[in-house]
Amino acid sequence: MTSLLVRHIGELVTNDPSVGDGSPLGLLTDAALVVEAGRVAWVGTTAGAPDADAVQDIGGRAVVPGFVDSHSHLVFAGDRSAEFAARMAGTAYSAGGIRTTVAATRAATDEQLAVHVARHVDEMRRQGTTTVEIKSGYGLTVRDEARALAIARTFTEETTFLGAHVVPEEYSADPAGYVALVTGPMLDAAAPHARWIDVFCETGAFDADQAREILAAGRARGLAGRLHANQLGPGPGVRLACELGLAAVDHCTHLDDRDVAALADAGTVATLLPGVEFSTRSPYPDARGLLDAGVTVALASDCNPGSSYTSSMPLCIALGVREMGMTPAEALWAATRGGARALDRADLGQLAPGAPAHFVVLDAPSHLHLAYRPGVPLVQDVYASPVPTG
Ligand code: NIG
Ligand code: FE
Repeated sequence: MTSLLVRHIGELVTNDPSVGDGSPLGLLTDAALVVEAGRVAWVGTTAGAPDADAVQDIGGRAVVPGFVDSHSHLVFAGDRSAEFAARMAGTAYSAGGIRTTVAATRAATDEQLAVHVARHVDEMRRQGTTTVEIKSGYGLTVRDEARALAIARTFTEETTFLGAHVVPEEYSADPAGYVALVTGPMLDAAAPHARWIDVFCETGAFDADQAREILAAGRARGLAGRLHANQLGPGPGVRLACELGLAAVDHCTHLDDRDVAALADAGTVATLLPGVEFSTRSPYPDARGLLDAGVTVALASDCNPGSSYTSSMPLCIALGVREMGMTPAEALWAATRGGARALDRADLGQLAPGAPAHFVVLDAPSHLHLAYRPGVPLVQDVYASPVPTG
């Protein structure tokens, strides 16, 4: 078995509070790590590092865990840049734009969709993302949701059935009929390719009763629930997620004190998606208030053609810091370990012995530069070799 020693790491973020400075980031300086069979085998200082078959000296740069992007909608076709331009000229964002992408996605071939996902996953990887969750939700027929998830599955284990994204045009007079389709034949076709089930619980999409019914149907088929909620206005979605003990509820832009208390009590992760507020020119969620209340916060890209067409976790970190009151350390944790929590993946987002060796070398001396130097391509190298099975 070949081992690799990575040494002279100026600052290593382990996200293991039992090592280094004892902070949640578990910071070590002049650090080293050993990788064996795709996993972290050892972490410590360069001076104390063991021998290995190969050595890589990274000259004092910082190493951070690979980003865990727990929310994306990569299976789509078409272009909505004109909608973005109109928004920047004053038109408000509306969930109805989803239908434009639905039409283009239905018209695309499997191959076109797969090529498109591959391009975006590659774009994410080059920016340091080593795990991505991918949702369906732009097909909204039995065939189109199933094929979206089958394609997504070829890129990640973290696939999410989002048949309940919006009621498609052809069901606009019969939303109950659409819920029956989602919880029946569409779920049957989607379940083999999905780990999660999600609902856009928002005025203009699905209400709390519908969300409850759809999540229950998913749970009966072995799919764990998550929600899009409180994005465009206040609503019941966040408290529903907490009541059901979901791993995560995403957006969380419009919250009241009861929502925040429910999140803190339930331990449901609040996944904040600042690319949305940036791209729709809207007020950001209150990350500071959530953190101060003891809520676990994750940051994710929500990469999609409508509300947030960015694949950049470094941008989300910079926005979390600049616009949402997070410290650079909190934002980095939220984009790594927080994303892992949101996906209920205790193995990810941490560089501790036994964890997958998913890490990023920054062309910078510390993680602070991720927020300090917004828009600068600091990701120099990304390690995410597969962990052998069996
Ligand atoms: O997460 N909120 C719902 N879905 C996406 C937006 C999708 C679109 O506009 O196409 C989101 O923001
Ligand atoms: Fe989304």
